[in-house]
Amino acid sequence: MWLLLPILLYSAVFLSVRHIYSHWRRRGFPSEKAGITWSFLQKAYRREFRHVEAICEAYQSGKDRLLGIYCFFRPVLLVRNVELAQTILQQSNGHFNELKWEYVAGYRRFNLLEKLAPMFGTKRLSEMFGQVQKVGDHLIRHLLDRQIQGCPLEVDLQQKLRVYSVNIIANLIYGLDINNFEHEDHILTSYLSHNQASIQSFTLGRLPQKSSYTYRLRDLIKQSVELREDHGLIRKDILQLLVRFRNGNEVSGDKWQLEPINADKLLSIKRLAKVAEDLLKVSLDAVASTVTFTLLEILQEPLIVEKLRAEIKELSNENGQLKFEELNGLRYMDMCLKETLRKYPPLPIIERVCRKSYSLPNSKFTIDEGKTLMVPLLAMHRDEKYFSEPMKYKPLRFLQTANDVGQCEDKTKSNVFIGFGIGGSQCVGQNFAKLVIKVALIKLLQNFHLELDANQVKTLEVSHRPAPFIHTKDGLKVKLKRREINTKFYS
Ligand code: HEM
Repeated sequence: MWLLLPILLYSAVFLSVRHIYSHWRRRGFPSEKAGITWSFLQKAYRREFRHVEAICEAYQSGKDRLLGIYCFFRPVLLVRNVELAQTILQQSNGHFNELKWEYVAGYRRFNLLEKLAPMFGTKRLSEMFGQVQKVGDHLIRHLLDRQIQGCPLEVDLQQKLRVYSVNIIANLIYGLDINNFEHEDHILTSYLSHNQASIQSFTLGRLPQKSSYTYRLRDLIKQSVELREDHGLIRKDILQLLVRFRNGNEVSGDKWQLEPINADKLLSIKRLAKVAEDLLKVSLDAVASTVTFTLLEILQEPLIVEKLRAEIKELSNENGQLKFEELNGLRYMDMCLKETLRKYPPLPIIERVCRKSYSLPNSKFTIDEGKTLMVPLLAMHRDEKYFSEPMKYKPLRFLQTANDVGQCEDKTKSNVFIGFGIGGSQCVGQNFAKLVIKVALIKLLQNFHLELDANQVKTLEVSHRPAPFIHTKDGLKVKLKRREINTKFYS
């Protein structure tokens, strides 16, 4: 009897694991050979907890457009073709719902992201530009203050850019008049170290994670919202538009004040705070890493820096202040940013959970409810099939010629670039992201000669831990020397 029990238990576990690991084979999908062996279990574990590198390896391991793989005990369908990924993510409306970005009005559910998209439109952004520049100036002022007369300053720019990024979020999303370079004990500044410790598993990462930060950030939002609703404060930032939305006012248009305050709120304070925290999570590392990796690449190529400086020199710079409209004309900088996002996409994998079974286009396959679909952006962006010499930093590959619009220089279709996502699920904040990234780059290049630590470049390690964020393991040490420009404004 005592012997029978463990045998039964073992058999039950064995059969259910075998059942899971035969999911794709049973459904007829091309799939990896799965079995209950030590090496396979290790691989499946690595995919779940060290996933970016392991998923890239799976992408490279064959030719099929779709591949059934396993992340720990989870069957995942890996899409290995950009066109197919684009078709699926564009046409699968309703099959891969993202409940996180919904709101309820009456008895109906609506897509919150669609409603909030106008927040990041040109008109709105142009009016928020003053706030963005102010944060850019905080960064420059902070670096200038640390420089001892005449001596180059050596700093970890990756860390400074994370503070810049959190400062943008504090000023524009949380609506605070704050300089996080000076307030090291501010909750949003300390969020930077909390964020480093986030969970690395796909599955666990999806669970609602409430920490003491959630409650403290909610308090921040509550105070800021009260200032606007009860005391009539108007500030041109994202929070103001979220408060307008909460009160049933249009987010598009050009009004900033609340008109009239609605008793039936579309978003509770708790929900609004959750939206703000989600925006914080999606933007903090994405912005910081894009500026960091752009600097890492361009500072190794003096010609690229020269071209960028030439473009920046053409901008008006009255009292150290940039003009919003002129930033759109920075064609070369746009190509550099695109190239950075190609080589180092801050979001390396798009993941969707199927909510309603879905017949995959141009194939005989159906993905079942509850199963996960993954589009490995990083692996696609580094695939020779789409981009020649993928590990080389070549901004000009995105040069669009007049009679060949939509093609990159190396004749790859430019729509293979999917750094901001695909179709209806593209990043709503991309214009805002490009704006704040450009402001940081322009101001740094305008005010400093920058030089990478040559030893560091040789040993520099790019890491995705904690996943999925991309960063350099030991920061980005850069020597800064002041350029004699804008002295009046910053002195
Ligand atoms: C360089 C910076 C950024 C990059 C490369 C980036 C990239 C992406 C990508 C690839 C997605 C699609 C995710 C998916 O389909 O599952 C996405 C979604 C999103 N992005 Fe961005 N993003 C950036 C910055 C920002 C900023 C600054 C904001 C707003 C302040 C923002 C707001 C969002 C939101 C709200 C979503 C939807 C998230 C979700 O579905 O959970 N992003 N972003």
